[in-house]
Amino acid sequence: MNLADLNTIARAMVAPGKGILAADESSGTIKKRFDVIGVESTETSRRDYREMMFRSKQAMSDYISGVILYDETIWQDAADGTPLVKLIEQAGGIPGIKVDEGTQPLPNCPGELITVGLDKLAERLAKYYKQGARFAKWRAVIDIGAGIPSYAAVHTNAHALARYAALCQQAQIVPIVEPEVLMDGDHDIDRCYEVTEFVLKETFQELYYQKVALEGMILKPNMAVAGKKSAKKAGVQEVAEKTVKLLKSCVPAAVPGIAFLSGGQSDEEATAHLDAMNKIGGLTSGLPWGLTFSYGRALQAAPQKAWSGKADNVAAGQAAFTHRAKMNSLASKGEWSSDLESKKAA
Ligand code: 13P
Repeated sequence: MNLADLNTIARAMVAPGKGILAADESSGTIKKRFDVIGVESTETSRRDYREMMFRSKQAMSDYISGVILYDETIWQDAADGTPLVKLIEQAGGIPGIKVDEGTQPLPNCPGELITVGLDKLAERLAKYYKQGARFAKWRAVIDIGAGIPSYAAVHTNAHALARYAALCQQAQIVPIVEPEVLMDGDHDIDRCYEVTEFVLKETFQELYYQKVALEGMILKPNMAVAGKKSAKKAGVQEVAEKTVKLLKSCVPAAVPGIAFLSGGQSDEEATAHLDAMNKIGGLTSGLPWGLTFSYGRALQAAPQKAWSGKADNVAAGQAAFTHRAKMNSLASKGEWSSDLESKKAA
């Protein structure tokens, strides 16, 4: 492992004003997204959609540091035969790859899941590195409900995240460590805070035990938010203050950057929350790590709708993607305001 090189990549992933495009929806998930816009999910339509984004010059060069790809996409060529990985690299972006293989029920823990995919991961990482991947992602999911999460679910998922991260670093690939506490429940923001604190503490403990070099990784957490079904919504400032407090108490300063998932927040909420956190950071200059985005839904919902599977709509899809990428770039510097939302990117 060359830690200096891993650290250079990790810092580039969270470079000022840049964030990560999570375009790594599995075939099942992208089908659900395409169903909403009335597009049949085929190998070609998935390629065309992703090619549209990767050819968005301004977005990819100015606002996006890297792209998380799904296994199918990393091997695909654009319509003119250029590998999609090359399109990302030509725009100055870093290709990344989702390497977990989804979730399975965790035995003896009703309603809880464990992320799988460690078997043969070392061999798969070597192939992905050859294909151009310089970072990877593994997502663990922790649900909040009556009596859950259990210690077993938090611990086994943290253990798997650390095993994945250690294997990545050995393969000279920067691991994005993603322990996602879901926002599906009816819990309030304080319960989300408490569970996320438990999950992050456990994750960093496992990373330490398994000798993962913190300088060569990126954390991808959820924010502290109320569950979608909660009667008690939290405002933007409360989300920002509690999330910053939580991260300060759990994430060592050696970690170069934190890139949030959007987790089902609306586009504008995800941007407003990121912006408010960076405004706090700007005021205190007290944040040791970069705070940026690694959004899937919050970056792609608008371009998906604008594109809707039609070649004639490629420019509209690219404009919608560029706008969201620009808004989040501003938010990553604490320079966003809601009145910028009405001014579409050029
Ligand atoms: P969302 O931003 O849609 O939550 O997706 C990010 C991601 O990569 C989830 O694993």
